[in-house]
Amino acid sequence: MVYDRRPDDFERITTPELAQKFVDEQMEAIKEQVGERKVLLALSGGVDSSVVAALLIKAIGDQLTCVHVNHGLLRKGEPEQVIKVFGEELGANLIYVDATERFLDKLAGVSDPEEKRMIIGNEFIEVFAEEARKLEGVDFLAQGTIWPDILESEDGIKSHHNAGGLPEDLKFELVEPVKILFKDEVREVGRVLGLPNNMVDRQPFPGPGLGVRCPGAITRDRLEAVREADAILREEFAAAGLEGKVWQYFTVVPDFKSTGITDGKRTFEWPCIIRAINTTDVVEVTVEHLPPELIDKLVMRITSEVKGINRVLYDYTPKPPATVEYE
Ligand code: XMP
Repeated sequence: MVYDRRPDDFERITTPELAQKFVDEQMEAIKEQVGERKVLLALSGGVDSSVVAALLIKAIGDQLTCVHVNHGLLRKGEPEQVIKVFGEELGANLIYVDATERFLDKLAGVSDPEEKRMIIGNEFIEVFAEEARKLEGVDFLAQGTIWPDILESEDGIKSHHNAGGLPEDLKFELVEPVKILFKDEVREVGRVLGLPNNMVDRQPFPGPGLGVRCPGAITRDRLEAVREADAILREEFAAAGLEGKVWQYFTVVPDFKSTGITDGKRTFEWPCIIRAINTTDVVEVTVEHLPPELIDKLVMRITSEVKGINRVLYDYTPKPPATVEYE
């Protein structure tokens, strides 16, 4: 059945059996809603859109077209994983758009955080709409809306995302198969659909991506430094057994330089800030205390492997007074 709201007596999905039951039920519901018609989905590679994609591929196969827009602000390996998992392994109809240059050109010289966010958001809709117009006979737009999104939009905390922003000429009926689920339930469903663990257990990642972790005006070289340092951080957290245990961790490369020394020569490069935090509600956040050996390893690897970095700092500030992201 297609749910409108989460029923009060809905049994929380905590086991593979319950997740499978939900998958079976939703596959029927999707088939009934969509029939022989076509569905479009913006697939970011995040948990929600990935689970919706996997569910729809199972239910309606190539009636679904997924569009993955790479805005150039994704983490290392993310677009490649979307192509591998959905394009190759699950055989999805996947359109991959590398819009990196377009986004970075638009963002060049823009240092105001809100203006950066707006450019990224608007450009994303623009690119997606261009792809949607190229397709014929699509009636539905699938979305990874989840239950907290609905509750927050009802409470006026945040406006209901995604579809609201599409231009007037693109009118779709919505398919939102996980909209009555909480995040942990979506992950459980993703697991029974066979998505890889690192996709299902992925830490939260902001829509504007690495753009907000490259404070001020984004340059290609500093963005690359954030991306490389983030990849090392994730690798070392996984090796230390912290993946899935620490709620969110990432790197920031601010736009100032300091003096250093490498091989007896003076350097003048950026610092890399590491942030690792825990929370339940994101309203209040505590800082993870990292083992000293891990810090030593991170300092050594990031300063020696990442071009342009000569210093590593650890942010010990909880929220409040700081926010999680720097912009
Ligand atoms: P802040 O910085 O507000 O972050 O303490 C709280 C949580 O929200 C994420 N975040 C965003 N997510 N678009 C998003 O989709 C954004 O613009 C954005 N800004 C912050 C942040 O990563 C953290 O998990």
